[in-house]
Amino acid sequence: NSNSNHNSTTTAATTTNPIHGERVVGFVPTMGCLHQGHLGLVEQSLQECDTTVVSVFVNALQFAAHEDLDTYPRTLEEDVAVLSRMGVHAIFAPSTRVMYPHGPPNARVVIENATRLAEGQSRPHFFDGVATVVAKLFNIVRPAVAYFGQKDAQQCATIRSLVRDLNFDVDLRVLPTAREPDGLAMSSRNVRLPPELRPKAVALSQSLSAARQAYERGERSPPRLKQEALAVLRQVPELAVHYVDVADATTMEPLVDWPIEGDSQRVCISVAATLGGVRLIDNIVL
Ligand code: PAJ
Repeated sequence: NSNSNHNSTTTAATTTNPIHGERVVGFVPTMGCLHQGHLGLVEQSLQECDTTVVSVFVNALQFAAHEDLDTYPRTLEEDVAVLSRMGVHAIFAPSTRVMYPHGPPNARVVIENATRLAEGQSRPHFFDGVATVVAKLFNIVRPAVAYFGQKDAQQCATIRSLVRDLNFDVDLRVLPTAREPDGLAMSSRNVRLPPELRPKAVALSQSLSAARQAYERGERSPPRLKQEALAVLRQVPELAVHYVDVADATTMEPLVDWPIEGDSQRVCISVAATLGGVRLIDNIVL
């Protein structure tokens, strides 16, 4: 098995894993409170792989002290029930003591450019915590294929560099963002939105649609595309906007000018905002 980590070009069925032999193991890491976004990744793995493993672990290492670790929604019983009904072969739901028996780990993965990513600036140790736990999970589960959601575009870019730079023999598959009927990106945190504010959350996806419309009218200036999105977000005074970012869709490095390759380079516009104490993110690729 070669160490080829290109995403979409890989046919899972042709990949074999040195540990599991001919059985192709697909893996979906999650923090639980499963919704259709997670379950779409699980369905894809069930279709493409012989064995599907799902992990459910709320990783303390990726939460800062002031963040929502304690209130992060936990619904393990329901999660196990839905995954069992779907026919998942194994669920790995370790306690923090199992994953971090000696407290915070001494050896960790560092994502060098994390603070160049918009989300990394907002949450400085977030991607090191994500990369460390995903490296541990990859070593425990030994998947041939791992499934991630485009909703967390910067997380995908981080995992891509983890796999490439540390030679993990895992093919990454990134699936599109699953949305509620009004366009809100599905998230475990959505259940914590106060009901009276829930309708306002649609502003995130609407702000991205406004940027897309400007793009379709020919707008190519990153600052002006940002302004288009911000104009929509500003109409909702309850939203505290953290960032609107225009970046290369693969590396998620911010773009100041439109890429010189013209329209061949894909560009990702991402947004983060807090509504009613709940932090929401979303993005689109143009
Ligand atoms: P979590 O937020 O539970 O997400 C698990 C996986 O589901 C991630 O790959 C995420 O991108 C994907 N996902 C979440 N919402 C989605 C949506 N609306 N559409 C498509 N995919 C969606 O991301 C994490 O957990 C953690 O950081 C983890 C990778 C498990 C490491 O702790």
